[in-house]
Amino acid sequence: MRIDIISVAPDLLESPFNHSIIKRAKEKGLAEIVIHDLRAFGLGNYKQIDDTQFGGGAGMVMMIEPIANCIRKLQEERDYDEIIYMTPDAPTLNQSTANTLSLKENILILTGHYKGVDHRIRTLFITKEISIGDYVLTGGELAAAVLVDAVVRLIPGVIGDEQSALTDSFQDNLLSPPVYTRPSNFEGSKVPEILLSGNFPKIEDWRSDQAYERTQQIRPDLLK
Ligand code: ADE
Repeated sequence: MRIDIISVAPDLLESPFNHSIIKRAKEKGLAEIVIHDLRAFGLGNYKQIDDTQFGGGAGMVMMIEPIANCIRKLQEERDYDEIIYMTPDAPTLNQSTANTLSLKENILILTGHYKGVDHRIRTLFITKEISIGDYVLTGGELAAAVLVDAVVRLIPGVIGDEQSALTDSFQDNLLSPPVYTRPSNFEGSKVPEILLSGNFPKIEDWRSDQAYERTQQIRPDLLK
């Protein structure tokens, strides 16, 4: 999968993709992530990318031309399956969206700053809008990093033990059951007996029950 990201703060996106699973996905050639500095498409000597809003109001708006020029330049190289805008006023990211995106070949992600982008970018170019939650970040970069992380680990072949991604929380709309490792007794606090029993069908039943109970307690909305 190829992921292009347009940003006015490209250095914010350097470190998140150079660790552990995402780094290995890149090394294995399963994911290619390229960051593009929007400033390079800025207008005039000052490489302007934002301006005051029509109609008045606080906050700058990202101008349409630099973004349109950047997107069009990238589109000359490849067809994008989705052009995604990271913004808080959008449907919230969930595992189902991450699963769907992990099967795409080319994704372009636009990150916003300030008051956001000129709305015409959204109507003319963007095919999907994603929020990572009901709070406002300084810019879309960290949101894009969250999206890319959630998607890339699901690309077939990225996680060695395929089972591991399939048993994550949310894969079947349930939270994960609790997990334990050695020691089986920490200062009197013991691991549930069933996990030491070696009875794997029973252990699976226990895990399913726990997943359901935890979901009912912590995120009952997922069961609706
Ligand atoms: N940009 C700023 N806040 C955001 C959020 N919550 N989700 C996605 N992009 C954002």
